[in-house]
Amino acid sequence: MPIDVAAEVIANRPLSSDYNVLALAAPAIAAATAPGQFVMLKANAASDPLLRRPFSVFEILRGGDGAPTGITIFSKRIGVSTRLLYDARPGQRLACLGPLGRPFTVVEPPAEAWMVAGGVGLAAFATLAESLRARGVTSTLFYGARRAAELFYLDFFRALDVELVLTTEDGSAGETGRVVAPLDRRLASRSTAAPVMIYACGPEGMLAAAARTAAKHGRPCQVSVERVMGCGLGGCYSCVVPMRGDDGAFHHVRSCLAGPVLAGDQIVWD
Ligand SMILES: Cc1cc2nc3c(=O)[nH]c(=O)nc-3n(C[C@H](O)[C@H](O)[C@H](O)COP(=O)(O)OP(=O)(O)OC[C@H]3O[C@@H](n4cnc5c(N)ncnc54)[C@H](O)[C@@H]3O)c2cc1C
Ligand code: FES
Repeated sequence: MPIDVAAEVIANRPLSSDYNVLALAAPAIAAATAPGQFVMLKANAASDPLLRRPFSVFEILRGGDGAPTGITIFSKRIGVSTRLLYDARPGQRLACLGPLGRPFTVVEPPAEAWMVAGGVGLAAFATLAESLRARGVTSTLFYGARRAAELFYLDFFRALDVELVLTTEDGSAGETGRVVAPLDRRLASRSTAAPVMIYACGPEGMLAAAARTAAKHGRPCQVSVERVMGCGLGGCYSCVVPMRGDDGAFHHVRSCLAGPVLAGDQIVWD
């Protein structure tokens, strides 16, 4: 069952003029969250914005004894709620409902995990990287952004022994271009006998490209979709994703319930 709390803002760290990391006191949600799950946050107590917005649980915060104390949200300012989250002050309380949705299926060795993040899609991967590390899974993060200044938390992932493959659209860090290009090359050069799971989160075009690339090389791919979500609970149908089941039949799923993590090869991308 999701938990609904008025979570106190513990800290708000701006990373750039658009990105920030918000720390919320929410021990029960932190304790119940699995990698890939999300919360619905109401950015203020007023009626505008009326609806909560979905955000991945970025990190699980822990006290000195290791017990979960809260969560962080890695947010990109794009509209009314994310602007309020960018400006949130310590002590303020935000309505926070979660954890919601189906998490990633975390692989075990000898499978490797290759995470593919575009921009704010990185938010889905901090908790996943920690789970992979705890299982001893060799992990790589393919991380693409527009420019070097929008590549965040690199030391966090390095500290978890995650290999980083970086791309920027303007060439200011890593390889120039889109993040799926190095993914494609690496998959092409990997022995088919060596198992690998692809995990992808980011803009829908990138998710489609990652899923197609994984399928081209015969690899499984879990994608975390970011549809507009009105409720996060299955009631409004704002978040539907067209899919084809194992039997080939076309249907829609509510990505807040069946996802946000879905099988990349079952989504109908166009
Ligand atoms: C499961 C899930 C997890 C998410 N995790 C994160 C996260 O960790 N960090 C983060 O910054 N964002 C995340 N998002 C996206 C986030 O929910 C939206 O950025 C947020 O709802 C925007 O709210 P707003 O009020 O600021 O923008 P609004 O004022 O509601 O919208 C501003 C503009 O952005 C468009 N828009 C709104 N939502 C989306 C969307 N999901 N995709 C594309 N365009 C959109 C609107 O159509 C509008 O044009 C996630 C979304 C989902 C579904
Ligand atoms: S967000 Fe309302 S049904 Fe999915």
